[in-house]
Amino acid sequence: MRVPASVGPVKEEIRWGVVGPGRIAEKLVADFAHVEGARPVAVASRSLDRAADFARRHGLDRAHGSYADILADPDIDILYVATPHPQHHAVALAALEAGKALLVEKAFTATTAGAAEVIDLARERGLFTMEAMWTRFQPAVVALRDLVADGAIGEVRSVQADLGVARDYDPVDRLFALELGGGALLDLGVYVVSFAQMLLGSPDTVTTAGSLFPTGADAEASLLLGYADGRSAALTTSLRYALPGQARVFGTAGWIDVLPRFHHPQTIVLHRAGAEPETITRPQTGGGYAHELIEVTECLRAGRTESAVMPLADTLAVQAVLGQAADQLGIRHAEDPSVL
Ligand SMILES: NC(=O)c1ccc[n+]([C@@H]2O[C@H](COP(=O)([O-])OP(=O)(O)OC[C@H]3O[C@@H](n4cnc5c(N)ncnc54)[C@H](OP(=O)(O)O)[C@@H]3O)[C@@H](O)[C@H]2O)c1
Repeated sequence: MRVPASVGPVKEEIRWGVVGPGRIAEKLVADFAHVEGARPVAVASRSLDRAADFARRHGLDRAHGSYADILADPDIDILYVATPHPQHHAVALAALEAGKALLVEKAFTATTAGAAEVIDLARERGLFTMEAMWTRFQPAVVALRDLVADGAIGEVRSVQADLGVARDYDPVDRLFALELGGGALLDLGVYVVSFAQMLLGSPDTVTTAGSLFPTGADAEASLLLGYADGRSAALTTSLRYALPGQARVFGTAGWIDVLPRFHHPQTIVLHRAGAEPETITRPQTGGGYAHELIEVTECLRAGRTESAVMPLADTLAVQAVLGQAADQLGIRHAEDPSVL
């Protein structure tokens, strides 16, 4: 008999279901080719035709014409939720109620309260849940964390990161429509905030400058995260103009450059004080999504309910920063209960 992921190690193949067969789901599913012991078996779309087309192209066993149907599919261990941000919350809650583990795309939810609700239920049910923040699993980012932990740049005091693209304004596109979680903050800002949070923890203060599109979604935002002991992070995100996607981590004994684009980097450059720069390259596997899939697979096999690399407390802390920044800019994000 199969052992549920929540109560103990899973010995058999881990069976995945995909919710929302959009652009990212296409890419992520291709990376299962690099993951042992896990396989996508089913997909759900609001349209049976779209689900069937996705299933056929990716060799999945089953296509569901509604999200409710995949929640009731008994032969699925974990759901990958790849709908727009405000459409994560209701699906995630219903999936947990149905006993499914979860990998939820970034940004985890549209609101801090929504994230807290999903996290509380995941913990209550003892079901594995993780935000699909693939950056934390990139081999170059793992190398960066190892260097920092080894004291290669001393104590980390400050982080800089930027991520932005120039996109033509289209009020119905999910990047701009508020009801689809539009704006730079939730789509790209989540990367700069999560990167800073990974290295510095939760800030004591958040100060934001930015501007909005006519839809009320943010076009650009710069965040200054402050820490009571004087540490800081300076972060910029934008859908109005392109940014290089560079990150820098400053310590008391040197700094590390994360070469563009830092949210899925191949190369970091270590600048130890008084030494020649050291270039470290760590290629990704597949499209770069395999690493988070391997982490989830290992966690499920070990019977863990959270990833130590992307724990739910970090997700909530990131969401809280994004929520404060949104409040300061006058953005009104909301979860969408109508998705189910
Ligand atoms: N990790 C990464 O590198 C990465 C990259 C891009 C995006 N993402 C994240 O992945 C999520 C989806 O992004 P995407 O670019 O893949 O979006 P997308 O191409 O627009 O696909 C989203 C899918 O969600 C479903 N959906 C459910 N309710 C919807 C609604 N009300 N309006 C529109 N679509 C709805 C749609 O599928 P059906 O209608 O067929 O059900 C659609 O195909 C976002 O949270 C985003 O931040 C992550």
